[in-house]
Amino acid sequence: MKLKDRKAIVIGAAQAIGNAIALAFFEEGADVALVGRHSNNLSEARRNLSNKGFEGLEVVADITDEAQVDKMVDTVIEEYGRIDILVNCAGHIGPTLPLQELKKSDWDAVMAVNLTGPYLCCKSVLKQMIKQGSGNIISLSGTAGKEGMPLRAALSAAKWGLRGLTQTIAREAGPYGIRANALLPGGVYSPRLQHVFEERALALNTTPEDVEQGFLDASALGRFASPEEVARACVFLASDDSSMITGESLNFSGGAIMH
Ligand SMILES: NC(=O)c1ccc[n+]([C@@H]2O[C@H](COP(=O)([O-])OP(=O)(O)OC[C@H]3O[C@@H](n4cnc5c(N)ncnc54)[C@H](OP(=O)(O)O)[C@@H]3O)[C@@H](O)[C@H]2O)c1
Repeated sequence: MKLKDRKAIVIGAAQAIGNAIALAFFEEGADVALVGRHSNNLSEARRNLSNKGFEGLEVVADITDEAQVDKMVDTVIEEYGRIDILVNCAGHIGPTLPLQELKKSDWDAVMAVNLTGPYLCCKSVLKQMIKQGSGNIISLSGTAGKEGMPLRAALSAAKWGLRGLTQTIAREAGPYGIRANALLPGGVYSPRLQHVFEERALALNTTPEDVEQGFLDASALGRFASPEEVARACVFLASDDSSMITGESLNFSGGAIMH
């Protein structure tokens, strides 16, 4: 078992990718706290996971609110005594619009979940990780965090920012034995991906199938990832198998980007 007895927080665990990460960590021996904004979504996710043997905590928190983040982290420390792993996996994609039509309120909402939330979560767990002299932070960026994505200015800017946050944490907290890495998926099969195809098709006056094919054509492997594949990459980054990797932005796009 690669994560035996490690204590993990997975933010955004109610849905596809976060959910798969929580289960993979549990199967590798970790104790896992599932975090999300909506208690009903979290409870349903936990019920589904418990059918696969999962036992873990469920903590409701809106990561855009500092007081709720600190309370969530305190709850996990009270319950588990330490925090070894934080996975920033919440997301809010925002509208599909060119920049000149993007409302500031939509820009702010995307930044709040994809960048300010991870900053607040990292800030809160780092205090504990520095005390421990160890820790590991994984943040879900995406290909839009390395290449500008038309009609997704806010998401792209936030996901680039997340890589800057990751590298800075790696440098600042490395001396305390703490690692920080970003994972950059391209398309991952999830309810959100279908929504992306539909919204882009509307904006570009084409069909969701054409949009999907365009993304597939851009990938060297010609397919998207499953949430379970993303989860396995997170196990690698969270485990000692990647012990010398920090400050990295790991492409996970089947070759859609290669730099
Ligand atoms: N799916 C893809 O193709 C893809 C590709 C590249 C990168 N990614 C990244 O991978 C991560 C997961 O993506 P996903 O498609 O599985 O799901 P997602 O739609 O991005 O959302 C994941 C979870 O975030 C939670 N969340 C949203 N706002 C929150 C907040 N303020 N506080 C706490 N939790 C919040 C949601 O739960 P509640 O609504 O219950 O709070 C949801 O379950 C995201 O960071 C995404 O940007 C995804």
